[in-house]
Amino acid sequence: ANNPFKRAVVLSESYSEATELADIEWDNLGFGFIPTDYMYIMKCTQGGSFSKGELQRFGNIELSPSAGVLNYGQGLFEGLKAYRKDDTVLLFRPEENALRMRQGAERMCMPSPTVEQFVEAVKETVLANKRWVPPPGKGSLYIRPLLMGSGAVLGLAPAPEYTFLIYVSPVGNYFKEGVAPINLIIEHELHRATPGGTGGVKTIGNYAAVLKAQSAAKAKGYSDVLYLDCVHKKYLEEVSSCNIFVVKGNIISTPSIKGTILPGITRKSIIDVARSQGFQVEERLVEVEELLDADEVFCTGTAVVVSPVGSVTYKGKRVSYGFDGFGAVSQLLYSVLTQLQMGLIDDKMKWTVEL
Ligand code: COI
Repeated sequence: ANNPFKRAVVLSESYSEATELADIEWDNLGFGFIPTDYMYIMKCTQGGSFSKGELQRFGNIELSPSAGVLNYGQGLFEGLKAYRKDDTVLLFRPEENALRMRQGAERMCMPSPTVEQFVEAVKETVLANKRWVPPPGKGSLYIRPLLMGSGAVLGLAPAPEYTFLIYVSPVGNYFKEGVAPINLIIEHELHRATPGGTGGVKTIGNYAAVLKAQSAAKAKGYSDVLYLDCVHKKYLEEVSSCNIFVVKGNIISTPSIKGTILPGITRKSIIDVARSQGFQVEERLVEVEELLDADEVFCTGTAVVVSPVGSVTYKGKRVSYGFDGFGAVSQLLYSVLTQLQMGLIDDKMKWTVEL
């Protein structure tokens, strides 16, 4: 009787519950999981297509111990954010997440919701949990869509059943440093991705694979790890949870998307914002040595937003960028991007979706 899967939720109940702000401490939200009211679930069989999903009370889900996702890592996730603006809520480019999930699903042999199904499900989930969208300036509602092989397998094969699930959680800054610069260490033995592998899609295994290097870095006092390419061991790839940008004069460079780099939606947005602000943006191979004489280095990601890098350490040598907070370029890009996301400036690119 306690199985949340079996309890259908009447939609009007979710909307009536969503009017008052949730009773939590809204100041100093970090990036930790806070359970909310509802999650969205939709299922389909291998070879079939997703049809009708529904909101359910948030809770644990039931999976066969033999589920494809548990045994062979057949799973993808997405991340996007909703911001409160007056009485409305703004989503940022949700169709981009939908498209990225579809690309990842193709790589991982999974069926995927259509872009329309994905965006509709995100909207329903956010509205049902509206009371958890932080007040303006306090953070955002992080939306986590999952796609997983939920059916049972034993031999290595695509699972016979798939589950698309969305849950949400209110969040603040990703790094404990807040918007203060982060200190990165460059990893030159372990690698995040390999050519021909899955580095370019948001499969769950890519993230478990960085935990070892990340834990070691944190134990030494670094904020996170910057990975190099595994073939030449000299080109920048990305940080565990975000993309990387290097600023030199008016030129902003970032590693090109070549199969081992996650095509970040914030990355893509920052490239457009930077060009609109008159910067020259280069997507190319970026050598580790370029960090030595960079003016600024910063990271981008949905969770991270734009995060200035204060120092990078490579083979024991530390390069500092000499800012207490943002450098001028990352400050400008951060401020334009977040004002767009929060609906504070004219959205000429039509990136936000109002609920
Ligand atoms: C995001 O930025 O949304 C991500 O998916 C990264 C994750 C490790 C928090």
